[in-house]
Amino acid sequence: MISNKPVCVNDFEKHAKDVLPKAIYDYYFSGADEQQTLKDNVAAFSRWRLCPRVLRDVSNVDLSVNILGQRISMPICVSATAMQRMAHPEGEVATVRACSSLDTGMMLSTWATSSIEQVAKAAPRAIRWLQLYIYKDRTLTKSLVQRAEKAGYQGIFLTVDTPYLGKRLADIRNKFKLPPHLRMENFETLDLMFSKKDYGEDSGLAVYTADAIDPTITWQDVDWLRQMTKLPIVLKGILRADDAREGVKHGIAGILVSNHGARQLDCVPATDVAT
Ligand SMILES: Cc1cc2nc3c(=O)[nH]c(=O)nc-3n(C[C@H](O)[C@H](O)[C@H](O)COP(=O)(O)O)c2cc1C
Repeated sequence: MISNKPVCVNDFEKHAKDVLPKAIYDYYFSGADEQQTLKDNVAAFSRWRLCPRVLRDVSNVDLSVNILGQRISMPICVSATAMQRMAHPEGEVATVRACSSLDTGMMLSTWATSSIEQVAKAAPRAIRWLQLYIYKDRTLTKSLVQRAEKAGYQGIFLTVDTPYLGKRLADIRNKFKLPPHLRMENFETLDLMFSKKDYGEDSGLAVYTADAIDPTITWQDVDWLRQMTKLPIVLKGILRADDAREGVKHGIAGILVSNHGARQLDCVPATDVAT
């Protein structure tokens, strides 16, 4: 008998389309604006070709690498994706367990539907990092970092490509917001929960971002963050060598070359040709 079980990423994508409400599927699936960068990202992956050596004993293959001073089983980790409980009742908690069982790292989104502490409790020994957005409310931002430290997270990935949310057309059309039974679990404050408010005709997440996230951040804020925590800081969303060099001057531990999955500024290059 033939099984319908998904066996590859494309199968999962089709499955998601079948089972998720349209607005949620569109949120996960879409890039920004005309999605030129999204097309480039897909094309960039399909350009890769492998040139294998042969007659090597491959009965034991070790893919492990070091990241921020820790050993992970393979050079693949899970990046931050917001609001995972829209797709599965356990959301980020299930993801961290999976990462832990594979000995690789997970980056938890600031906008997770499971809290920093819930995720830590689900997999205390997992390699966990917090993805951070700098809020206009700096006390709140500082408390997120302190909670991550306390819960044993091993690094902060500061997202630097989101002063405003990318213009995601499907989210605007769908007036995207969280389903009412969910909320961003890292926040107590009602107006930061992102599910309760009426966001008018726009994408709710775009309105939320414009309300809450600080678009004025500069390299001085990287210094502010560095002096606040001993955790290594990685800048997520670097696309240029000169910005990478500037980061080194500001003492960061690493960069994540990324265009945010084509969800922020459209028409930036796929990361294989970023300079
Ligand atoms: C559904 C979805 C939600 C995402 N949420 C976040 C987020 O909350 N914070 C963030 O910094 N990046 C977020 N990203 C971007 C990813 O972390 C990542 O940058 C993107 O998938 C591309 O991978 P790359 O950075 O390794 O190229 C999201 C991506 C997707 C597809």
